Amino acid sequence: MYEIKKLNAISDLIYTNLDKNVYNVSDDATDPIGILVRSAAMHEYEINPSLVAVARAGAGVNNIPLPKMTDAGVVVFNTPGANANAVKELVICALLLSCRDVLGGVAFAGSLKGKEDAAKQVESGKKAFIGPEIFGKTLGVVGLGAIGALVTKAALALGMKVIGYDPFFTEEKAKSISEELTFTKDLDDVFKTADFITLHVPFNDETKGMINASSIALMKDGVRIVNCARGELVDNTAILAALESGKVKKYVTDFPMPAVIGVSDKIITIPHLGASTPEAEDNCAVMASAELKDYIENGNIKNSVNCPALSVARKGAVRVTVLTKEALSEDDVKAKLGAAAEIAVAKRGDVTYVIADLDKAPNEDALKALAANALKVRVL
Ligand code: MLT
Repeated sequence: MYEIKKLNAISDLIYTNLDKNVYNVSDDATDPIGILVRSAAMHEYEINPSLVAVARAGAGVNNIPLPKMTDAGVVVFNTPGANANAVKELVICALLLSCRDVLGGVAFAGSLKGKEDAAKQVESGKKAFIGPEIFGKTLGVVGLGAIGALVTKAALALGMKVIGYDPFFTEEKAKSISEELTFTKDLDDVFKTADFITLHVPFNDETKGMINASSIALMKDGVRIVNCARGELVDNTAILAALESGKVKKYVTDFPMPAVIGVSDKIITIPHLGASTPEAEDNCAVMASAELKDYIENGNIKNSVNCPALSVARKGAVRVTVLTKEALSEDDVKAKLGAAAEIAVAKRGDVTYVIADLDKAPNEDALKALAANALKVRVL
């Protein structure tokens, strides 16, 4: 039996891939081969020797210590796109909530319970909740991955103009999202032209605090900012000052950090609901469990965030995989295995991954030679 540990509740659709006769999925496995995680923080997690893979049911991986996992030979997967529609729908909701004060208005209407003149008070009181339309306005989309692309299409369909930024995109790739999308490789273009800005980038050292006093200074007066990506992308001190001065009209965040909760009626805090739909939870569970299974059983890597992508149909009776920071070529592996083998090699940064298919199991010495400088060697 393969032991899989769940660090969070994950949809039972994992069992569409993880046969219960082969995989024992539990919350308390002490020496799992794989981990399924949603938002549990893994930075202090003590990596057990049997662990080969962690699959995150979601896109962001800032709750997982990637360098530490790589050095322990653990492949980390995420599920790009699996919850993108759910996040897109919340972003559209957030854009609309940033315009008319629907939440304030609903509370006001509720406060009129039992009042004989409620209808009259509704009509006289509603002007406090007035707000603009999104139609015809410019939306700046920061990050054009799976979520940014869907947000772009939805916003265009609602009559917005969209300017999109993504450092990893070409004009051609951006146009494949929509011919109507204005693409830029200069983030300042987004800040300068957008009436609304929505963030869709991962949180890392480069993106931390990307919305700060300097970027806000470039923005249009009265800009509305939506953050369904990660709280740390926004410098809270800067956004609070900009809301206070009126430079930023509204900030809607799906990440209610203590500094922004209940401090301003110009901030709408949503309790991290971006991926919280049954559909997204099912999609993420199916994708994460498929990634785990294929890696555990076949050593194939798809959608890893720390290791090279490499998927090969099995060709021999035995498969040997090597994850290493050593510069390992096909010939090196052949020499070390001392046997005829079909070999595939992929690299990502300083990590090399090798899949070798052999007709028979390699001898112990050959495996020892391979393992000498490797992060992880597996025989499958
Ligand atoms: C994500 O990174 O995709 C979301 O934060 C997932 C989640 O809500 O668990």
